Amino acid sequence: MKILLTGANGQLGSELQATCPTAITLIPTDYHTLDITQPQQIAAALAQHQPDVIINAAAYTAVDKAESDVERAYAINHLAAETLARESAQRGIYLLQVSTDFVFDGLQSTPYLPEANAKPLGVYGASKLAGEQAVQALCPSAAIVRTSWLYSAYGNNFVKTMLRLMAERDSLGVVADQIGTPTWTGTLASALWSFVAQQPQGIFHCADNGVASWYDFAVAIQEEALALGLLSKAIPIKPLRSDEYPTPARRPAFSVMDRRATEQQLGYTLPHWRVSLRQMLTELKQQSVTA
Ligand SMILES: NC(=O)c1ccc[n+]([C@@H]2O[C@H](COP(=O)([O-])OP(=O)(O)OC[C@H]3O[C@@H](n4cnc5c(N)ncnc54)[C@H](OP(=O)(O)O)[C@@H]3O)[C@@H](O)[C@H]2O)c1
Repeated sequence: MKILLTGANGQLGSELQATCPTAITLIPTDYHTLDITQPQQIAAALAQHQPDVIINAAAYTAVDKAESDVERAYAINHLAAETLARESAQRGIYLLQVSTDFVFDGLQSTPYLPEANAKPLGVYGASKLAGEQAVQALCPSAAIVRTSWLYSAYGNNFVKTMLRLMAERDSLGVVADQIGTPTWTGTLASALWSFVAQQPQGIFHCADNGVASWYDFAVAIQEEALALGLLSKAIPIKPLRSDEYPTPARRPAFSVMDRRATEQQLGYTLPHWRVSLRQMLTELKQQSVTA
């Protein structure tokens, strides 16, 4: 099986490259080799490589910057997904489109089902939702896989930022009134490889299990990093309200997603986020030892 991967140098793309099953021929592409906002580049890449599957891991993911960079966010998250969907439908390619919990407004207090009403609060979520809708309209055989609070040993993310700040500072304040689920790219990549084999259609919620606030997540990062020797001292971490940490983009207060249908599809229970965090930090430690 041949798979064309977009956004191959991002967090998820890098994890997919590192974990690709040997039976799969992976064609990793990123901005410099395949700019997904250029329809003719997509057509040429598909004509050249003739993939069976496309995994679209490319995205405009700068949530705050998107508020003032609307056109670019839509070009990547909406229009490029639309092109990939059209081409996939025409060529009989199975498309895996990755999306986000930020399509929800966060007003629910129970986990969002895949069919729940999506109502994004910001440009990033709205552009990703527009991408989802285009994929559903043009390529009904595709799967849209929503994930949340993604972090990885590759690239920049909340975990790495926390580790840096915890080493540099004497104390830290972290938002405690936004609830969601941190998800390791390792969890998502494993699920996506199963999806490649099973080729289900529709919208799926794929995140680690459990819930946390960003504050809880930060506390856990410190505890696990201390236990692994990635940090040498503990600092006080203070819970903040969102209004004490203003950002250009509004974020959902509650974006936990119901993963039961995904677990049924996969045939296994997704790991708890804390177990995944430990795995990621262990990987990070190994990287620092071998570097
Ligand atoms: N990060 C999260 O917390 C989070 C949460 C929920 C869902 N998601 C979704 O999960 C997926 C993977 O996210 P991630 O965290 O791995 O993102 P990421 O680390 O930001 O990676 C995205 C990749 O896409 C590339 N890219 C941007 N514009 C492109 C273009 N025009 N053509 C080709 N490649 C382009 C980026 O390249 P450059 O770096 O060179 O721009 C980057 O390598 C995305 O669909 C995202 O929306 C992420």
